[in-house]
Amino acid sequence: MQENASRTEGRAQVGVTGLAVMGRNLARNLARNGIRVAVHNRTTAKAEALVEEFGDEGDLTLARSLEDFVAALERPRRIIVMVKAGEGTDAVIDELVPLLDEGDIVADAGNAHFADTIRRHEALAQKGIRFAGVGVSGGEVGALEGPSIMPGCDGDTYAEIGPFLEIISAHVDDEPCCTLVGPDGAGHFVKMVHNGIEYADMQLVAESYDLMRRVLGLDPADIGGVFRGWNDTELESYLVEIAAEVLSHTDAGTGRPFVDVVRDAAEQKGTGRWTVQTALDLGVPVTAIAEATTARALSGGTARREAVREALAGAADADLPSSLTVDDLRDALYAAKVVAYAQGFDMVAAGSEEHGWDVDRADVARIWRDGCIIRARLLGDLADEVEAHPDAASLLATPTFAAAVAERLPALRRVVTAAVAQGVPAPVFSSVLAYVDALRAERLPAALVQGLRDYFGAHTYERVDRDGTFHTPWAGDRVEVDAG
Ligand code: 6PG
Repeated sequence: MQENASRTEGRAQVGVTGLAVMGRNLARNLARNGIRVAVHNRTTAKAEALVEEFGDEGDLTLARSLEDFVAALERPRRIIVMVKAGEGTDAVIDELVPLLDEGDIVADAGNAHFADTIRRHEALAQKGIRFAGVGVSGGEVGALEGPSIMPGCDGDTYAEIGPFLEIISAHVDDEPCCTLVGPDGAGHFVKMVHNGIEYADMQLVAESYDLMRRVLGLDPADIGGVFRGWNDTELESYLVEIAAEVLSHTDAGTGRPFVDVVRDAAEQKGTGRWTVQTALDLGVPVTAIAEATTARALSGGTARREAVREALAGAADADLPSSLTVDDLRDALYAAKVVAYAQGFDMVAAGSEEHGWDVDRADVARIWRDGCIIRARLLGDLADEVEAHPDAASLLATPTFAAAVAERLPALRRVVTAAVAQGVPAPVFSSVLAYVDALRAERLPAALVQGLRDYFGAHTYERVDRDGTFHTPWAGDRVEVDAG
């Protein structure tokens, strides 16, 4: 459907297809910001309802078919696809592409796996269609009022869609929480890591709550008050803020704390799992994210939990001394958050290196300062520190964060000790401490692992005192040989 670009003036500047809550709110956000938007949904009623309910918020054009939708857009067309990630995305793209012209842009704003985004970018490039994988964070309110947006695409594509995305994103001091993250899969990769950090951050908040309740004996409303107070400290963040809200909420039906009537099995849609799988492939330790993801799986294994609880009921336990204060928990939570974010940023660096994306981690920290679920005061310092020390081998080795963690290490150790002593599971706090201790260790028992590998499989080892690769014939004379 070739037509002269000048004849498309006045048409919608951006199209949104897929009008479940996120797509609907993104479309309204665009319209509220004075952008002419065409809206489409497979079930037309949803598009009709949107225009009927919110048509007065801006320039919303209703499209009843994909053909009408495409025809309603100025050229090059900018189409945001907001459908459930996976096969649904491919189905929409397959239907759209025959209707598009060379140079048109399809931007997938769902939580796609970055490998799918790389594949789609390549496939569409062959057809002359430009593809963007756009990470969007902020939940439904963020989508409406200003999310954090992580686009991955070519520079010329960003020049076409970036300005619209920047307008609707959250802003910090007039700076948009949206920037070109890198080519093809970079945006969705960064969004995936965002979600991994989100899992770790939430689990740390949950473990802090559990320890306050079970070790310090506070009730949920009191703990809500503690989180509210923490939100005025260096811990200021969206997740701490909403933890206070959820913990202070009372279930209307029973009068019990809301948190006590919710089944204790945490769900996931899969982005945390993807983060851990990808981190393993990249060889980057993201222990906080891995433990948080595992903790969700463990919580959902009801039959296993019941069986082991029964089997071990009455098991003798050690009586270990420990002490814990609310201030210890505050300090430990901050230190652990720093470690979780550091692991996430290591992963962004490794992914960028592996795929040649050249992702600027300071930019990533900056666009996460507002709008997204993990928005936190910490991210401003993180952006500055990454920028000041771009070659630091870890965020934990930069002056600000090394000092922040060092200062809080005794508190973190007391928290983990109290958890162990009292039998309260704190897998992310514990793994964070083990991670820091491992990185600080002069020697690791990995030397023995190497010895064992060489013993049973002649896998060879390196020595500390000279270069080369060596093997000891364990079943023979045990005289070391150069394995070269
Ligand atoms: C966001 C959220 C959002 C969503 C995820 C995680 O950044 O706005 O991360 O993308 O909450 O789908 O959900 P699960 O916990 O179900 O994996």
